Amino acid sequence: MTVPDRPARPKVIVTRELTDGVMARMEELFETRLNREDRALTRAELEAAVADADVLVPTITDRIDADLIAKAGPRLKLIANFGVGVDHIDLHAARERRILVTNTPGVLTEDTADMTMALILSVPRRLGEGEKLIRAGAWDGWKPSGMLGHRVNGKTLGIIGMGRIGRAVARRAQGFGIRTIYHNRHRLPEGVEAELGARFVDLDSLFTQSDIISINCPHTPETHHLVNAERLAQMRPDAYLVNTSRGEVLEEDALIKALQSGQIAGAGLDVYVNEPHVDPRLLDLPNTVLLPHMGSATYEGRAAMGEKVIANIRAWVDGHRPPDQVLEGWD
Ligand code: 8YV
Repeated sequence: MTVPDRPARPKVIVTRELTDGVMARMEELFETRLNREDRALTRAELEAAVADADVLVPTITDRIDADLIAKAGPRLKLIANFGVGVDHIDLHAARERRILVTNTPGVLTEDTADMTMALILSVPRRLGEGEKLIRAGAWDGWKPSGMLGHRVNGKTLGIIGMGRIGRAVARRAQGFGIRTIYHNRHRLPEGVEAELGARFVDLDSLFTQSDIISINCPHTPETHHLVNAERLAQMRPDAYLVNTSRGEVLEEDALIKALQSGQIAGAGLDVYVNEPHVDPRLLDLPNTVLLPHMGSATYEGRAAMGEKVIANIRAWVDGHRPPDQVLEGWD
């Protein structure tokens, strides 16, 4: 059955090369135009895409700002983002034009939590430095004082943002004998706190009490530069910071200064302010573990993200509310 105003085979423009299975399925179901080159579209190409498509499938590497949305053609009705974070999309401008926005929550939670946990373990135990030592042929053998780091067992982890990913990190931390405190817009129900072994604290307590801080909140106007110079100054000199959320939640320059001066002990980063640019000062710091935004990068996760995009488009075609419609950014 076709729904009035909804094309049975909508024109879907996908801005990046997705995994093979997802692209094949999209071509089967929709009038799909794929970007077969593994690069981001130029601004002119994006403008042409929004002028022409019923549905745009962007990724984090596309800036879907108000200017771009103003150039959307009358057909554009859905922006079905491939990814959970939507801070690269001007939700307000989309709403004004009555364009729906969807994302892909849930299916990358465990992968991103795994990567967060990997950084939580890697930074205090100096995995990056150890690896570099071997590769440089500079390891001169075991010694009692070689490559000493800090124990994570028994330490306090402060999680900023207790959504799906934050909770999945807390679950993992329990298995490592780490105590979890957290801060979130809303306190979790007591039963959930008990199950996660996590205690709600205010932000001041989180920054002063944590041995390791993990940023797991979305980037929104409220969380922009939430971790700034003042917050970093509240951290102890033996504390570490891990960020797998968005670079913009952190004031990168302040972090670099805190690392350079020894104000904090180290940082593990998967995300940066101006990706793919990585501030060269970070590269010079031995107490950082730096990853190229790979938190959700598993075959399984990317396939599931593609399935979610398809399910959202199909729901819209069928006249239903897409299951992952974004109302105010991440939940
Ligand atoms: C995605 C992410 O792979 O989903 C997110 O928000 O940060 C990544 O893990 C990326 O955004 C794809 O658009």
